Amino acid sequence: MHAIKKLLLENKAWAEEKKSDDPEYFERLSHLQTPEFLWIGCSDSRVPANEITGTQPGEIFVHRNVANLVIHTDVNLLSVLEYAVVHLKVRHVIVCGHYGCGGIKAAMTNHDFKQVLNMWLRNIKDVYRLHRDELEAIDDLDKRADRLTELNVQEQVMHLAKTSIIQRAWKNENRPQLHGWVYGLKDGIIKPVFQMTSDSTIDPLYTYDDL
Ligand code: CO
Repeated sequence: MHAIKKLLLENKAWAEEKKSDDPEYFERLSHLQTPEFLWIGCSDSRVPANEITGTQPGEIFVHRNVANLVIHTDVNLLSVLEYAVVHLKVRHVIVCGHYGCGGIKAAMTNHDFKQVLNMWLRNIKDVYRLHRDELEAIDDLDKRADRLTELNVQEQVMHLAKTSIIQRAWKNENRPQLHGWVYGLKDGIIKPVFQMTSDSTIDPLYTYDDL
């Protein structure tokens, strides 16, 4: 059977199973979503947000891109963030990276991945440059990539805090909390590495004083 046909068959079986467990399931979900969490994760197929957190449809609003980056000119990411924070009123925003991330590893090479990927990976190289001394003190390249993965998540959380979307929500409603996590492909465990709340200090260069 074609792999693509199998997806549709599996979908039918899943829908039937859900309905037999809870006949109102789809009807209820179709009216409302009230997720508490926004997940910004890597596109990597091995890191599915719902599955690794034991959550169901309706519980996590999700955005994924290569190496879970928060780029201040990315209209896609920013519209997801604004919708989640302003309209869905999520209480937590999670940036979740993962050890063994291909994007992180690629950014540590000098390979030309062609312009579009070069542009994207360039953001990770900038994180590396900010933390070059710490990273280059680690001789083992896998361990260095692991540490860059953690620092990348921390940097992306700080990028969130630099947006007026987050600063306004912090000022008016003391939410959301921002979390930087790293998921382990080898053990399935999520390691929290960084956190920011409305009490956190942001570099004054990036704070808005007339929100
Ligand atoms: Co990845």
